[in-house]
Amino acid sequence: MLSKERSRSIWSERTVAWYRRANERSDYAEEFLAAIPDLLACSRTALDVGAGFGALTLPLARLMERVTAVEPSAAMAAALRAAVAGGRHGNVAVIEAAWGDAPVPPHDLVVCAHVSHLLGRGAPFLAALTHGELARRGVALVRDAPGGDDKFFFGELYPILLGRPYGKSCGFEETAEEVARLGVVPKLTTIEYHSDQPFDSLEEACDFWMEYMGLEGAEPRAYLRGFLAGRLRRENGEWIASFRKRAVVIHWAVT
Ligand SMILES: C[S@@+](CC[C@H](N)C(=O)[O-])C[C@H]1O[C@@H](n2cnc3c(N)ncnc32)[C@H](O)[C@@H]1O
Repeated sequence: MLSKERSRSIWSERTVAWYRRANERSDYAEEFLAAIPDLLACSRTALDVGAGFGALTLPLARLMERVTAVEPSAAMAAALRAAVAGGRHGNVAVIEAAWGDAPVPPHDLVVCAHVSHLLGRGAPFLAALTHGELARRGVALVRDAPGGDDKFFFGELYPILLGRPYGKSCGFEETAEEVARLGVVPKLTTIEYHSDQPFDSLEEACDFWMEYMGLEGAEPRAYLRGFLAGRLRRENGEWIASFRKRAVVIHWAVT
């Protein structure tokens, strides 16, 4: 997962399709939901901020009476709407906007996963969660944690192909500290999940890395072809980049 949202959105029909394909074989939502049983038990409505294509929105919709998803990327919102229609989730409303740009009513449970700039120091969103009435029953935030695999091999590839180290942003401590500074003592639950990225061909895998790393030209592509041929696993006709991720769920009940 990248954090380019602020400067230019990485999300296009193609990048969203890659992300969805990885999510289809992931246990991410399962592990997330297993971390917050008490909050799920006392909530009937949920708000998912930065919902993407619905990796958490749709599983939440199966448990809640009503779910609202806030998502600014047109490509992500379109994928989410299609999934909502396809799964006949009549209880999901999609608000296509960035947080703060559209009015959002209070919900029992507020979820925000992997949207780092909403969850950093001084973020107005965190202030709204801790001081407003946005969350009536509880809050669950997700950020990356150290100890997972080198995501997309960026730790190795950035110095070679971009001439700089990959700036990882784990940041769960930053969020937990900011929430504590705002007067809430959250619970921290570490989760681990599979985040394998499958491709139909080695060339498609090269497209993926060229796109995500912002690379152009034949030379980096040739390097990637050799590198990925040695790293991707062949399985049932697919080329699979295997990753295991760790994240921290920062959660609390509203009292
Ligand atoms: C890395 S994805 C995570 C998606 C989903 N929460 C998940 O965990 O699978 C981050 C999402 O946050 C959205 N996003 C970025 N900036 C946002 C903002 N200011 N308000 C709401 N969503 C935002 C992006 O468009 C993207 O869909």
